Amino acid sequence: MNAIINNIEIIKAKTTKINDVDFDNLKFGHVFSDHMLECNFKDGKWQAPKVVPYQAIALDPSAKIFHYGQSVFEGMKAYKDANEDVWLFRPLDNFKRLNISSKRLAIPELPENYFMDGLKTLLQVDNGWIPKKDGSSLYIRPFVFASGGGFHASPADAYKFIIATAPSGAYFSGKVKVLIEEKYSRSANGGVGFAKAGGNYAGQFYPTQLAIDKGYHQVIWTDDNTHEYIEEAGAMNIFVRINDTLITGPTSDRILDGITRKSIIELAEAEGISVEVRKISVQEVVAAAKDGSLKEMFGAGTAAVISPIAGFGYKDADYDLPELDDTYASTLKKRITDIQTNKAEDPFGWRYKV
Ligand code: PLP
Ligand code: COI
Repeated sequence: MNAIINNIEIIKAKTTKINDVDFDNLKFGHVFSDHMLECNFKDGKWQAPKVVPYQAIALDPSAKIFHYGQSVFEGMKAYKDANEDVWLFRPLDNFKRLNISSKRLAIPELPENYFMDGLKTLLQVDNGWIPKKDGSSLYIRPFVFASGGGFHASPADAYKFIIATAPSGAYFSGKVKVLIEEKYSRSANGGVGFAKAGGNYAGQFYPTQLAIDKGYHQVIWTDDNTHEYIEEAGAMNIFVRINDTLITGPTSDRILDGITRKSIIELAEAEGISVEVRKISVQEVVAAAKDGSLKEMFGAGTAAVISPIAGFGYKDADYDLPELDDTYASTLKKRITDIQTNKAEDPFGWRYKV
């Protein structure tokens, strides 16, 4: 008889890989835990999810994920505190966003209990994989894709929802140098930019490689229409500090509604920092870099947490940001990670005990 927790059946792995993992030197998303959650959509409905051994998936070559890119995903983290309690951060927001993404890609939406009970059960089974070390966490990757086949360009009749997890360290190893993009676009009005669709990332790889070849780490996307306004980075929303004001662009059809971004806005306001959510023109940032009023830029996202930007390139010129002792980035990073890891009170009710 297989065990059942939270109504989820568990098929245990016969062996564990955990003893091969160096938990003191974790890279990001490089080794994977012993189990995964698997749930299939067939005959017009999502079937009961199961925790199964982490394993390869067999797919028909005509599966529509390969041809038409029907795939969406999420990124979350689980943290273990000093008492070995396990915490998630705003997990229902990830669940809701996954369904928002699915709807846009004509993928059937998931029931909340399959996502939440499945995730909690998976974390209980793989509890030993959740790192305790500061700066490390269990990165959680829920994703849904078209497993049903056929060459007709229309939605599939079968899908898989999987949650895989990876004990992980930092996403970026140091300060990030970015290139403000003036030619390529990540997304357009009416498109899928607001969704966490796999294709949004594939479309960034080529322009990002061009930027890497020039010595940058990431592209900062600008609006597709004029390329005059800063939108977001490849895997992060962007904040700019001019004098003492923290500014981030509004979300739109083209920008992912980041959970870290909206948390940072609330945390900054609670710290008494003046926050503006408005369009930021590239010209404003360049002018502020030139006159010294540009104090900080940073990216915000689940994987990246808060990643300070050391400088940016734009139209063949490079601009360095000052090295300040006290930054909004470090204050806000401490505030958010202390809440996530149960080191500080959580007046917002964001932390979620597993
Ligand atoms: N923007 C993009 C394109 C992303 O991939 C991510 C990462 O998830 C973010 C922003 C940040 O979103 P969140 O804070 O919800 O992780
Ligand atoms: C995350 O921050 O969780 C993401 O999904 C970004 C990813 C592309 C690494």
